Amino acid sequence: MPETRTRTRARKAVIPAAGLGTRFLPATKAVPKELLPVVDKPALQYIVEEAAASGLTDVLLVTGRGKSSMVDHFDRKLDLEQTLAESGKDDLLDAIRRPCDLAAIHTSRQPEPLGLGHAVLCAAAHVGNQPFAVMLGDDLIDERDPLLPRMLDLQADTGGIVVGLIEVPREQTKLYGIATAKPTEQEDVVAISELVEKPDPADAPSNLAVIGRYVLPGEIFDVIARTQPGRGGEIQLTDAMATMANEGTPVHGVLFSGRRYDTGDRQSYLRAVVKLAADRDDLGPDFRDWLKSYVDSGFNSTFDSGAGSAG
Ligand code: UTP
Repeated sequence: MPETRTRTRARKAVIPAAGLGTRFLPATKAVPKELLPVVDKPALQYIVEEAAASGLTDVLLVTGRGKSSMVDHFDRKLDLEQTLAESGKDDLLDAIRRPCDLAAIHTSRQPEPLGLGHAVLCAAAHVGNQPFAVMLGDDLIDERDPLLPRMLDLQADTGGIVVGLIEVPREQTKLYGIATAKPTEQEDVVAISELVEKPDPADAPSNLAVIGRYVLPGEIFDVIARTQPGRGGEIQLTDAMATMANEGTPVHGVLFSGRRYDTGDRQSYLRAVVKLAADRDDLGPDFRDWLKSYVDSGFNSTFDSGAGSAG
């Protein structure tokens, strides 16, 4: 089969991480939301691992005030490395070195949290006029169900905008950007004609919700620059994408039905931690036994041992 792709595949990932994390206060007063542990890794590391696994080894973190510790996580920590090496803790040594080897980490500063669209605009100088991926730290996609490579390939074919989509219960439309879409010849791809940010269920054009994965053409920067503040007084990425759709840019959604963990609010964060811990080879067996016993005990708060929790 001849190769039909004529455009460049995106090579850079942008991770907007300059938000205030108000839903996790007071934890996020001094610790960036993106560094909160999901089991034993910061949410941000999962995202950078996904970028690297998708071939995106140039990663731009859009950071804000008080959030520079995010960059430290991807830097060497030589004194700790030496201590771990001297005490023969090779597993931990690997664990702290691993984030440094994933990707080249760059930063850009968003001076004020003026919205996701504005955060993406802060990546313009680094990205230039090339397609790029935007990955939100609240959405963890299970590495066993990769989504981004499919989106990157599709964007290289269309040259337009590609977003990740899930079906949500109708009452949840007010939490997401929602797409008006129709099927294409490819079963997992829809063509999007309109996007609206967080509509009330009664006004939502569908229950197809945009999740935190986007592959965008470089032209979006000019469009964001002329996008006025929208919902919540913020410069919305959804509004800029909707403008491009109206002006004729092809917009597609890849339907995702794999495992995904939302860590954006406290309820979904707790569920994500429980699911991921239960699924781990090292922690899972004991944790599942304990969890089952805890549930069987009727959530007795004095209960603290399970069949498998020896220590
Ligand atoms: P969220 O709205 O989920 O994050 O934005 P937030 O604002 O930090 O959280 P809450 O609502 O106050 O609890 C989605 C992503 O976009 C980034 C956030 O850091 C988050 O990763 N973001 C949002 C920015 O980088 N800049 C902004 O101006 C807004």
